[in-house]
Amino acid sequence: MHRPPLPHPPRGPRRPAGTTARTATIALVTGAALTLTGAAAPAAAETDHPHRPRIHFTPAQNWMNDPNGLIHHDGVYHLYFQYNPEGDRWGNMSWGHATSTDLLTWEEQPLALPYTDDEHVFSGGIVFDEHNTSGLGTAENPPLVALYTSAYTGASERPGIQAQSAAYSLDGGYTWERYDGNPVLDIGSGEFRDPKVFWYEEGGYWVMATVVATEHTVHFHRSDDLLEWEFLSDFGPAHADGGVWEVPDLFELPVDGDPDDTRWVLIVNLNPGSVAGGSGAQYFVGDFDGTAFTPERLVETGPPDGEVFAGFEDGYGGWEVVNDLDGLGGEGPFGTEPAAGTLDGQHPVTGYEGERLLNSFVGGDAPRGHATSPEFTIDRDFVNLLVGGGHHPRTGGGGHASVDLVVDGEVVRTATGQDSESLDWVSWNVADLVGHTARLRVEDDATGGWGHVLLDHVMFSDDPVPGLADYDWLDWGRDYYAAVSYNDTPDDARVTMAWMNNWQYAQDTPTSPWRGAMALPRQLELETVDGRPQLVQNPVDQLESVYGDPVYERDRAPVHARGLDLPPAEPGQAYQIELTLRPGRAGEIGLRVHEGADQATVVGYDTAAQELFLDRTASGNTGLHPAFPSRSTVPLPLTDGALRLRVVVDTSSVEVFADGGRATLTDLVFPDPDATGISVRADGGTGSVEDVVIRPLGPDPNGAAE
Ligand code: FRU
Repeated sequence: MHRPPLPHPPRGPRRPAGTTARTATIALVTGAALTLTGAAAPAAAETDHPHRPRIHFTPAQNWMNDPNGLIHHDGVYHLYFQYNPEGDRWGNMSWGHATSTDLLTWEEQPLALPYTDDEHVFSGGIVFDEHNTSGLGTAENPPLVALYTSAYTGASERPGIQAQSAAYSLDGGYTWERYDGNPVLDIGSGEFRDPKVFWYEEGGYWVMATVVATEHTVHFHRSDDLLEWEFLSDFGPAHADGGVWEVPDLFELPVDGDPDDTRWVLIVNLNPGSVAGGSGAQYFVGDFDGTAFTPERLVETGPPDGEVFAGFEDGYGGWEVVNDLDGLGGEGPFGTEPAAGTLDGQHPVTGYEGERLLNSFVGGDAPRGHATSPEFTIDRDFVNLLVGGGHHPRTGGGGHASVDLVVDGEVVRTATGQDSESLDWVSWNVADLVGHTARLRVEDDATGGWGHVLLDHVMFSDDPVPGLADYDWLDWGRDYYAAVSYNDTPDDARVTMAWMNNWQYAQDTPTSPWRGAMALPRQLELETVDGRPQLVQNPVDQLESVYGDPVYERDRAPVHARGLDLPPAEPGQAYQIELTLRPGRAGEIGLRVHEGADQATVVGYDTAAQELFLDRTASGNTGLHPAFPSRSTVPLPLTDGALRLRVVVDTSSVEVFADGGRATLTDLVFPDPDATGISVRADGGTGSVEDVVIRPLGPDPNGAAE
């Protein structure tokens, strides 16, 4: 029944073929590995495609995006979702439906709310109207009421308008009727959507959160009957607003488990402009008084106070500018004075301060040259600068286009653009260089596409410029979007679902006949971290229901560059690996999963940067979209030199819950099905791992139903 796993031979005794490992005893010998095989499988999985996840919800076929209408009712978790009943790309938006009693094994149900000629059914929420306030049911049989966004089509009387509508179910969520007075809330906007409704106990009324997406605002309305809505307040823009705001959620949670000390959490999904790029979910912690939400922490935006060293407003000043390194007789790349914004043949340049900036696009991308600042003494901890232009880092080989900090003839800091004509802040921490004399140097050695640098507003200051990483995020990886929570869960547990995807490439993921998966359901809690309440997230306890017995445990092992091989997974097997990483003297230490000859997804720690990262640049099929290869990071200090990780690996995803759930990273990956290796590797010194436990999750890929 079990094939020997590839590519590494197992290290311990293996269960003979044909037996079932329901319970496996793990004898833990210090430092020694013991391998057993076997998952206590609830049922065999449909294996129509190697990338079909084992423990993550996917529809049998067709396109899926946001989770909708999350409610626990009569012992059943309902998951509705944005669904195209007719195709594997976004369109014909309707609500699909699935049910579960454990949040992990799902049964797909018939379509709940189909689109019509006039109306596409966008995201929304469901409440149990226990006292029949809406009158849509009866006192004996109160209704479930869905509030969803009607996206009116070109065939309708209100083309392009988005308004909130109601539908109700009298059979516990299986069949739905539209309310005949729809829409129930219409402000004449084409960007007004994604209602999430809850019963506000203290005030005794319903509250609805929606977004006006392009204005980066969340609107709050109240109602007594779910049908007539009155405006309360709005919130935003705040923190990340580099894209539309979508799918809001608002709920109350105890801090550190104390029911007398609560806060309100506002989730705002954002696309694009998230911390990892593209779609993502930010959150705010604060107070909701029945009318308005007030965050208790807002990060200041823009540069801190400081001394501007180079603003390029009055010529190049004392900078030594060398144009025409190729001797072609041109004025490029810098010209004789700083550019007044955009140059001939250039897309509009934005994000600089004042009237002028250094723009090495004079004569186009081809000319090479360099510009060097006067000498200065570093006397503050940060150099902040606005940088744009091509992404040609020094380390990339070939002609670079970079802004460098040079001390004693050596480049000690370097920055490059992001292939964008919009300048962004870069902050260099130079605390270790205070007292040294230095120069800035712009080198434009790149001659091809994006072969130019933009630089402005170099300033010295005591603090870095706040950026996306200073805000609060539900997830720091690439694929966690439209996160929203369940209503009416047992014990008031706050459980979220999210679409495990990113609008940057969601239409291109290589799966068939379905496209789109949900991330694992998570339980959210507020814990005091760094002196303020922050969300801590872990997979719901129900995950235990799909645990297999541990197949591997070990207490401690050194790790160096050659690496430490752990037993590989069965092809197609989902699993959870828990371990403690101790970077020790290593510059970098990383867990490698979905490892094959030429590929691996790396969950690693960068000791100098104090960052946890998830790197899928060599994770298998990364060519589905140019934005797919990525390395995402989250700032995370070690605790006593160690970092505890819980990593859930499925056939096409990796989810990281670090430091007890204080930081999470979620990425889709599309590895070769036989890339099943698991190892740990350290670079630049020896590190170690401790307390490693690997358990299979969900159905045994080779097993029959039990
Ligand atoms: C978010 C979103 C929502 C909208 C739905 C449409 O991913 O754009 O704002 O309601 O998807 O499918």
